[in-house]
Amino acid sequence: MLKEHLHTFSQQPTPFYVYDLPLLRQTLDVAKAEAAKYDFHIHYALKANANAPILAEVLERGFGADCVSGNEVRRALEAGFAPDQIVFAGVGKSDAEINFALDSNIFCFNSESVQELEVIQELAAAKGKTAQVALRINPNVDAYTHKHITTGLEENKFGINVWELEELVPRFSQWPNLKLIGLHFHIGSQITDLRAFENLCVRVNELQQWFEEKGLVFPHLNVGGGLGVDYRTPEENPIADFAAYFAIFNKLLEKRPGQVIHFELGRALVAPSGNLVSKVLYLKHGQKTNFVILDAGMTELMRPALYQAYHKIENLTSELPPMTYDIVGPICESTDCFSKATELPETKRGDLVAIRTAGAYGEVMVSEYNLRDRVQAIYLT
Ligand code: LLP
Repeated sequence: MLKEHLHTFSQQPTPFYVYDLPLLRQTLDVAKAEAAKYDFHIHYALKANANAPILAEVLERGFGADCVSGNEVRRALEAGFAPDQIVFAGVGKSDAEINFALDSNIFCFNSESVQELEVIQELAAAKGKTAQVALRINPNVDAYTHKHITTGLEENKFGINVWELEELVPRFSQWPNLKLIGLHFHIGSQITDLRAFENLCVRVNELQQWFEEKGLVFPHLNVGGGLGVDYRTPEENPIADFAAYFAIFNKLLEKRPGQVIHFELGRALVAPSGNLVSKVLYLKHGQKTNFVILDAGMTELMRPALYQAYHKIENLTSELPPMTYDIVGPICESTDCFSKATELPETKRGDLVAIRTAGAYGEVMVSEYNLRDRVQAIYLT
């Protein structure tokens, strides 16, 4: 598919991100339709990709926004998301960020610690406002994903631990400016073993029951995001299995009458529609390894260096027989390597390669290290 656009690409300074908007629209439509079957509410996680044209497509489908910083809340508002569709999570919300969110009248703070609740109470009281909050609970459920993107285990910094809840519940009556409207969970990202979500449902049911025994019934449950995508064979599975994912929650989550179930999906909505296109600068033939040296590096796509993440790489230009290469970037770090011992058609200086499935946690994690130029983005419409 990308090869069809080689003419456009050859006019474009490299490296650049290219977003396939038709695929994005299709993905969002499928997610929307599957969620609608059960009246589930999706908040798009801006942290995955906050580019304006992407947010516009998300907004058009009526999704809400999931933010983890004051600037993400600002970006969501600028993009046109209604304040009452915005949730705000994050383990380290600053006073300025909380104040901004209070002034913006967002829907809900997903609060990650007892001390944070105290601070939101104090800041809301100073403004004479009531803040809606959900407790982000660390459910101690394994997401069976890479350890760096697991969030729901006791050893992770996220959320309020279950053993803290007993003491926390009576304190709510001392916090007149907080309205406790829900429970929030997020166990990790790039989850492909859907049993993790089944385990999450079981845990949410137990916790909901526990709170009810204390007389607390919540109008909202937020089960986070985390649905993974197929990085290995993106052309076979360009759209994540939203049907199976939502069906699990419909089947297992013990929803109370009138309760609204919220999701915070990022990666599964945007990853497959983004690609990083880079030009081959040099070939270097060593005794053990042949290197392809690209003009994109870990500064443009950090995931391989940071999490040993796999992204499929294609040579868009060459039709020659395959050779084996280490595909690396220009940054002065040995971890600046996209893929080791990888087969590509014999590659030459000037060839264009596409690093696939880079629409989520790609551009948003760009760094200026080595004083790199800011990577550009183009959109296939
Ligand atoms: N909700 C919360 C509270 C989160 O922390 C995250 C992701 C999401 C929702 C969205 O999760 P998703 O549906 O995208 O899996 N940079 C890493 C991923 C970090 C995910 C952080 N939190 C990567 O490139 O793999």
